[in-house]
Amino acid sequence: MQVDTLILGAGAAGLMAAAHCGGRVLLADHARAPGEKIRISGGGRCNFTNTGTTAAQFLSANPHFAKSALSQYTPQDFIDLVTRHGIPWHEKTLGQLFCDNSAKDIIAMLRSEMQKAGAELWLETKIGDVIHRDGQFVTGLTRGASPRQIFSKNLIVATGGKSIPKMGATGLAYQIAEQFGLPLVQTRPGLVPLTFSGGPFAGISGVSTPARVSAGTASFDEALLFTHRGLSGPAILQASSYWQEGADITVNLAPANALYEALRTERQIAGRKNLTTALAQHLPTRLVEHLAPQLGVSGNLADQSDKALTALCDRISQWTLKPSGSEGYRTAEVTLGGVSTQALSSKTMAAKSIPGLYFIGECVDVTGWLGGYNFQWAWASAMAAARHI
Ligand code: FDA
Repeated sequence: MQVDTLILGAGAAGLMAAAHCGGRVLLADHARAPGEKIRISGGGRCNFTNTGTTAAQFLSANPHFAKSALSQYTPQDFIDLVTRHGIPWHEKTLGQLFCDNSAKDIIAMLRSEMQKAGAELWLETKIGDVIHRDGQFVTGLTRGASPRQIFSKNLIVATGGKSIPKMGATGLAYQIAEQFGLPLVQTRPGLVPLTFSGGPFAGISGVSTPARVSAGTASFDEALLFTHRGLSGPAILQASSYWQEGADITVNLAPANALYEALRTERQIAGRKNLTTALAQHLPTRLVEHLAPQLGVSGNLADQSDKALTALCDRISQWTLKPSGSEGYRTAEVTLGGVSTQALSSKTMAAKSIPGLYFIGECVDVTGWLGGYNFQWAWASAMAAARHI
């Protein structure tokens, strides 16, 4: 069978590319349904873009690489598409846009755009060998019992990263890149809960509090959640992408100066108040009770010298912790690293050394923060390739 473009992977990026490539397009995936990660994203409502998207919200060995694709296809372009399809949406905090009803609306929209473009979708299809011969790609696909050879001028690899193997994630994109001699940046799980040996927070599992979590060079002010195995919540997921195995993270549970001033004032007006009770006006009670022994919290406010209060507030604002690991690809929302941007054109996502070969979406070494950035990258990188084809 001959097509102009074969796209491997019917996730966010593959569906978007199939809808916009033009010519005869075949999209193949081993899953039973396309866009499975879209379906479960954003708690079932898909945080489909972020209006504040810039290259600064992405991690990559080349921090400038994402700029070209992101500027060619903006969040507003995707909003226009969603609006044309009459899909109701709303803005949550920080420019994050979600469907009002269901993430399935986004999948239906992409399927309908794809059908309009005449692209064909093969599901439950096993992808075999890929060969580059006489200027075209020959790919073995098996759907049902019949193996077929697909001849194509262009091959777009959109099989995503390694996150959540249970949902069908594989390292296929990296294998294909390696086969064609393209360099890879080491992969690791991103946007993932962090674990601590011994489960030190099991007793306060479920407690959530606003915090500033810092890892490496980055800090995030969002909710922190204590879990049986460690720490989670948006602040931790964000910081996890910057955390390196063996390194510390710093958790600021309350700004030191503000807490110090508040406790001092309270000491003047209610000196007989228990320190634990006073702290519980600023932090969740269960958290204060849990931390009290290690912070040396005891006695009344009146018992605390300015020096003791300063030391206490400093510890609360600079709580240093060493995670033992992360929950790994099993629950990670994204995969950091991947196909090196050195090998790709930032304008078209084409492999510089192999004409007609493209890598788009999460398999590329471009990974966004939490908040709709990863889908915006999937849409934008797909459009960069599709427009070039
Ligand atoms: P994607 O993973 O979507 O698609 C890859 C496709 O390739 C899949 O259909 C898979 O079956 C197929 N495939 C893989 N290996 C194959 C093989 N060997 N043979 C055949 N087919 C193969 N982002 C965001 O911006 N907003 C959000 O709200 C969320 N929420 C969210 C929640 C959860 C739980 C997760 C896990 C992730 C998110 N994300 C997110 C991240 C977002 O889902 C992700 O970045 C994009 O789906 C990446 O799009 P891709 O098309 O590159 O890969």
